[in-house]
Order: sequence, then structure tokens, then C-alpha cells
Amino acid sequence: MKALLLSSSPRYDGNSTTLAKHVAIGLEEAGHVTEFQHTHDIVSTFLRDCRTCRHPNGECAITDDFRDVFFNHFLPADGLIVATPIYWYGMSAQLKAFFDRMFCYVAASHPWSSETIERMQRKRIGLVLSSEETFPTVSTAITHQIQEYSRYTQSCFVGVVHGYGNARGEVARDPNDPMAAAKKFGRTFFDAHATDFRIDTPRPARVWNQEPGV
Ligand SMILES: Cc1cc2nc3c(=O)[nH]c(=O)nc-3n(C[C@H](O)[C@H](O)[C@H](O)COP(=O)(O)O)c2cc1C
Repeated sequence: MKALLLSSSPRYDGNSTTLAKHVAIGLEEAGHVTEFQHTHDIVSTFLRDCRTCRHPNGECAITDDFRDVFFNHFLPADGLIVATPIYWYGMSAQLKAFFDRMFCYVAASHPWSSETIERMQRKRIGLVLSSEETFPTVSTAITHQIQEYSRYTQSCFVGVVHGYGNARGEVARDPNDPMAAAKKFGRTFFDAHATDFRIDTPRPARVWNQEPGV
């Protein structure tokens, strides 16, 4: 399988990127093709008013690497893992801009929007977080947003790796060992049991295989 890892801290050697790199190690150990990108290198500005910004052929007029990464790395991937520091209880502006900029290519006014919408669907999605604070709901807003994105695109939100630290690389000292969790997350990303049922979803009565006779 093919995974795109998108790291969105402006710190190239920061906590969320360190965790994302461990996810990449796990993915590679499991034999998956893994690409690592930093939003900082790709997205130079926010979404603009497409109606006034677009070229006459429907293409986005912003000249940065978003288009290349979106079409040649994100759409062909089977899985997307986004990494972000928690900023003001949400995701980084860089990551939000990456999601927002997709709009240019899914809007009906873009010539290939139907094909693009089809190719955005049914991916596996992962989330990697770092934060200073540890209270359980510090990540609620981001987790919810990624869940809604996954639902909207008929994707599967596989799970979250969250490490704690503030100074650059401090996450390595987190006694919960999120680096090990990140590696394991990467190793199992494409096979892990991940469900989000609808009322009529066919499923067995048990979640895990039972020993015979149990
Ligand atoms: C603009 C900004 C906002 C932040 N907001 C929060 C926050 O709301 N909650 C929190 O726990 N940490 C917050 N932090 C701390 C970072 O989440 C923390 O230092 C994180 O580990 C940084 O990750 P990085 O090294 O990948 O950039 C904030 C840091 C910055 C720079």
C-alpha cells in the first residue's frame, strides 16, 4: 500500500514530526511505500476566492507545490497520515490550509472535479499529535475534525498517536513512549481493526475472534 505522511509543524525537528517519522519507520517495516512531506514546503498561502483567483481553464492560480502534492502524492495514496502540533486546541494553520486548498479542485467549477472527488474517497486516515498539555480533551476538536473529514470522504479514521512535550524533540522523554506507539501505528496502519458502523452495517456479534467453545 502507499501512504502519504504530511507533517505540519513549522519545526522540521519538532515533536510532531519526530512522531510522524516513527510512523514512517513502522510503515516501511511493514513493507508499505511511504512518502513524507512537510506542509511548510508545499503550502505558501491560504485558500483565496476561487472565483477571482482561478485561471480561465479552472486551475488554481497560486504558484506553490500544493497542486503537485495533491495530484501526484495525495490522490494516488491509499492512506493519509497527518501530523500536527496542537495550536490553540486545534490543528496548525499549515495543515488547515492544506485541507482548505483541496476546495479548488473539488469545486464543481474545476474541470476534473468529479474524478478528483472519486479519488479522494475511501482512504485510511491517521492522526499524529503533540502538545504541551495532557488533559484528555485537549485533542477533542482536532480528532472530531478529522473524524468528520473521514466520514465526509467515506474514509476510515484508523486512530491517533499523541505524544507530550514542548521543547523541540522533548516528546522523546515522554514516559508513555509515544515513539514506540507511533512505530506500531505505522506497522499496523493498513491492517488495524477500525470500525464506524451504520445501523444496517452487517457485522458479527463479537469484535474479536473467540477461542473455540468460548
Ligand atoms: C501557536 C502555539 C499554540 C499552542 N497551543 C497549544 C495548546 O492549545 N495546547 C497545548 O497543549 N499546547 C499548545 N502549544 C504547544 C505545542 O503544542 C507543543 O509545544 C508541541 O509539542 C509542539 O509541536 P512541534 O514540536 O511539532 O511543533 C502551542 C504552541 C504554539 C507555538
